[in-house]
Amino acid sequence: MKLGVCYYPEHWPESGWEDDARRMVEVGIQVVRIAEFAWSRIEPSPGVFTWDWLDRAMATLHAAGLQVVMCTPTATPPKWLVDADPGMLAVDAHGQARGFGSRRHYCFSSLSYRAQSARITTALGERYGQHPAVVAWQTDNEYGCHDTVVSYSAAARQGFRVWLQQRYGDIAALNAAWGTVFWSQEYRNFGEVDAPVGTVTEVTPAQRLDYQRFASDQVVAFNRIQTDILRQYSPGRDVVHNFMGFFTEFDHHALCADLDVATWDSYPLGFTQNFFLTPEEKRHYARIGHPDINSFHHDLYRGMCQGRWWVMEQQPGPVNWAQWNPAPLDGMVRLWTWQAFAHGAEVVSYFRWRQAPFAQEQMHAGLNRPDRTLDQGGVEATQVAQELLQLQTQAHVPTAYPQAKVALVFDFTSIWMAKIQPQGADFNAVELCFRAYSMLRQMGLDVDIVSSHANLDGYSLVVLPAHMREDAALAARLAASTAQIVLGPRSGSKNVSLAFPECAEAMPPGAFAALAGVKVQRVASLPPGLEDALHWTDGGHSNLTRWREDLLCTTAAPVAVFADNKPAVTQNGRTWYAAGWLDAPGWRRVLGMAAQAAGLPVVDLPTDVRTQRCGDWQFVMNFSAAEVQFVPAGAVQCLLGAPVVAPQAVSIWKV
Ligand code: GAL
Repeated sequence: MKLGVCYYPEHWPESGWEDDARRMVEVGIQVVRIAEFAWSRIEPSPGVFTWDWLDRAMATLHAAGLQVVMCTPTATPPKWLVDADPGMLAVDAHGQARGFGSRRHYCFSSLSYRAQSARITTALGERYGQHPAVVAWQTDNEYGCHDTVVSYSAAARQGFRVWLQQRYGDIAALNAAWGTVFWSQEYRNFGEVDAPVGTVTEVTPAQRLDYQRFASDQVVAFNRIQTDILRQYSPGRDVVHNFMGFFTEFDHHALCADLDVATWDSYPLGFTQNFFLTPEEKRHYARIGHPDINSFHHDLYRGMCQGRWWVMEQQPGPVNWAQWNPAPLDGMVRLWTWQAFAHGAEVVSYFRWRQAPFAQEQMHAGLNRPDRTLDQGGVEATQVAQELLQLQTQAHVPTAYPQAKVALVFDFTSIWMAKIQPQGADFNAVELCFRAYSMLRQMGLDVDIVSSHANLDGYSLVVLPAHMREDAALAARLAASTAQIVLGPRSGSKNVSLAFPECAEAMPPGAFAALAGVKVQRVASLPPGLEDALHWTDGGHSNLTRWREDLLCTTAAPVAVFADNKPAVTQNGRTWYAAGWLDAPGWRRVLGMAAQAAGLPVVDLPTDVRTQRCGDWQFVMNFSAAEVQFVPAGAVQCLLGAPVVAPQAVSIWKV
């Protein structure tokens, strides 16, 4: 459990660097990430390298005892490079090349840019690969940020044809998979196929899905060039990348196969404003952040690199990029930091050391204000560092993060499928996963978010809120397990080419049909205001919005029915199926039944309180506005805090 910070020596006069390093140590920072946007200072003209300043910055940090995460600067190709090779720019859906003047303007498919990326990565690897301060490398910065995964450049279009040729072998296979007989779209050869853009109305869904797969593969390939080089020049150091929140445009599980540690950038207040929460939730959580946004990503990214993960950028105060940018309540920066450690983070690194008084992010807080005084975030980081020190001397800090009893399956292809063919404007598969996850957390359950390939041994409850992709392999592993299973609406409803499933007589839930004991006969999306009532067979009601399916029970029995008496939630042995978009009480009912059958103890936590087990430490985190008396079951000693947890505070118990 270490603290880190993002630092930009190139933004500040060199005369202040030593003082910065000294004060970082004073705060309790151990890890410093640098150089991810510094290309124009490292190589101001083609082939002219100015390493001296970076050498001195590294020496200053090293002399202070700080460890460095060195980054490749490829998110910001400099002006001279763009001018020399405008073909490396990404192109948007309107055919417009992405302009110079911000960042992430390159196209992942540009072979010439890949060569430039390899060249600068090699130069950095040669220079700093063996530097004693370097503990890790970060590739690039936030792949895909600002909607940059999909590009329609000439390089991308050409790359897509090659990719299709490799995937399908012959054009007849592509025509069959995409269903191009529909609307006379048949192709005679791969050279005729283009990117799915600019069509009069909806483009072939299978073509869009393949373009997303292709674009995802381009990101993975781009990253792999860098990881291969860094491993050669800097063996033994961790290679990491910093992912984002609620961002699903490429397959993170695939990319993580080339990394040692998954890191992500945690901006709970920005995400609360910018994502799918209701207006009431946005208001209620404006200065706290929804308590489950952070943990959802902690649990997701913990599942990517054999449990190794960090927060690379932690929000330290107001940000600049959300629709509205409120200030966190005092205590939140500390609580977010402890929350990350509770979920097993190795490092929590704040963005950034000092607020920049110029350029795009001048309204974005840092740990320090522009005048070099410590801001509230810096005060709270200092407090966490002191608490960590105290805990490390008085108690054995957990080193192993235990496997949870509950797994939630998160599948990038399914997310893309739902986005390409939502059928109702608000059918958001990421939100569906989040809502199910959030309910599990409110029930006091710890959750591992896993890929569809994960080993399911040891889980007593497996939840698949949005596994739209037909997945016979996963269905077989679930059938062979002893876990209780909860399937959300549209499960298994599309085959690999985004058409109806291939098995179970071509009706959803396809490969999951035998487990669920149902067949979906009709689906309907519900506009806002159109609701259906659910009557639970053991009493009580809940509501259904957005989505409804009509089920035929082959072997399942309903545990809830709609107003018209048709099955709404069913049980078939170990498997529950939800035939629509449940509200929170609905999720509570079905997850509660499955948890009970799984023998999992459920605690309905006080509002906005969350618990989390890490090793033999049990965390109690209070995101609410009121103090809460809460002592976890099995608690033997209070290591931090007290039985009464103040608002925005945490207690840690040994159990
Ligand atoms: C991240 C990015 C940083 C900085 C930060 C501001 O998305 O990686 O470079 O822009 O947001 O919150």
